Amino acid sequence: ATALPGCALTKEYQTGAEVSSTAELPKPFNVPLPIPRVADAERRNGADHYAITQRTAEIEILPGKKTPILGYDGEFPGPTIVSRSGTPTVVRHTNALDIPVVVHLHGGHTPSVSDGFPTDFVMPAGSHELPHGHAASGRIKHGHFDYEYPMKQRAATLWYHDHRMDFTGPTVYHGLAGFHLIHDDEEDALPLPKDERDVPLMITDRAFDGDGAFVYPALDPTMLEEPGVEDDYMAGVLGDVVLVNGAPWPELEVDAARYRFRILNASNARRYRLQLDPGPSDGDPFTQVGSDGGLLAEPHGLGDILIAPAERFDVVVDFGKYDVGDTVTMRNGLGDGSTENVMRFRVVRKASDDSRIPDTLSEVEELDADAATVTREFEFARATSSTGHDDMWLINGKPYDPERVDTRPTLGEIELWRFVTDVHHPVHVHLDPFQVVRRGGRPGPGTYDEGWKDTVDIRPGEVVEVAIRFADYAGMYVMHCHNLEHEDMMMMSNFETME
Ligand code: C2O
Ligand code: CU
Repeated sequence: ATALPGCALTKEYQTGAEVSSTAELPKPFNVPLPIPRVADAERRNGADHYAITQRTAEIEILPGKKTPILGYDGEFPGPTIVSRSGTPTVVRHTNALDIPVVVHLHGGHTPSVSDGFPTDFVMPAGSHELPHGHAASGRIKHGHFDYEYPMKQRAATLWYHDHRMDFTGPTVYHGLAGFHLIHDDEEDALPLPKDERDVPLMITDRAFDGDGAFVYPALDPTMLEEPGVEDDYMAGVLGDVVLVNGAPWPELEVDAARYRFRILNASNARRYRLQLDPGPSDGDPFTQVGSDGGLLAEPHGLGDILIAPAERFDVVVDFGKYDVGDTVTMRNGLGDGSTENVMRFRVVRKASDDSRIPDTLSEVEELDADAATVTREFEFARATSSTGHDDMWLINGKPYDPERVDTRPTLGEIELWRFVTDVHHPVHVHLDPFQVVRRGGRPGPGTYDEGWKDTVDIRPGEVVEVAIRFADYAGMYVMHCHNLEHEDMMMMSNFETME
């Protein structure tokens, strides 16, 4: 195994900043878009069983260079798991790394024991030494663990990633992320684009050193003395290379037909405003059909997509509106220089297309915010020096403590949660999804908030109110900022759902 910086991390290591690659970077749109491998299931006792080994590997990301990664089965992105709604899925994760790991299925309605609580470590086989500074409070496993997912949930685009306390930023950055899709009969019956025209797109940003290794910035403590430096590293880690499904600015050859893209922003901290250049001569470039929690009630035209870390947008793009030979670039309106480009589509052939976007997609229950039994406020803010630790991000003035329960919602009741902030935070709640009922004082979901959400982008000064109902399982869960550096710097809180 190759020694990786990610294997020897100390807490001091993972305070980030904008990073520039020293590697020579490829020209955009020169490599084909990879599609992550779909994992093979074994059907036993009415459940789908998967086995994934977490290990180091060296993969080619930049042409001609080897990048050491931490990978699910040594791959980045990890293999895609495809579940059927109603059929339990069991994933045995074997830890062949030399660091503890924790797996979270993001968007899963999962019993607490399998949800990837941040101190529920799966230790490397043979290692019994707990990481420095952690009491053995978590549900510790050795060598491997069978994560059990009941899959009592609708079709949706989920993803799985590492969730170890204090180290989620560096481990995900080094490769521990993959798709987990759920299908159901309702979705199958729709005439949306299918098979090779249903494409997952995992967008991440990374920086590379001259040998092709990922650069995750170490903070030199002496730099803290310099004015302004803290603001940089507190922002989160941003790379200068945009990867889609692990490839730098790739290109996908498409038919002149409709495609469905399941877009996931798996970046540690970067937000994107996705645009198509050129746009179609008529109509919206994107038609949103689903969000974090599956299908919308009806399709929703979008001129662009503002996507924060961990959010998913399930959209249809109609390349039938372009000519054979055209290229269509997906750009990032929030980018700068190398991060202005994301990927490119090249329309290579005419093709028949019997897909369409129906006017009604799904019946979506609307949570009645007026029926909320309790209103809770969560304030996301940076610690100030008067509190003694200004290198942290806090929720309601408190740094994360795995032992402390901050909120006790009752299962089955609708609650109103108010998220308040002064800077951007993508807020994620485990276990059950929510609906945005007000943003920035205006009623209803904002343009990018449609449908069932599990992550919502809180923008500066814009209070976001969501209606949430925990329906499934009693136990301990977390909610947190999904800017992974903010999460690692304590912007996380426990809630315990009660019968
Ligand atoms: Cu995608 Cu708690 O995480
Ligand atoms: Cu944040």
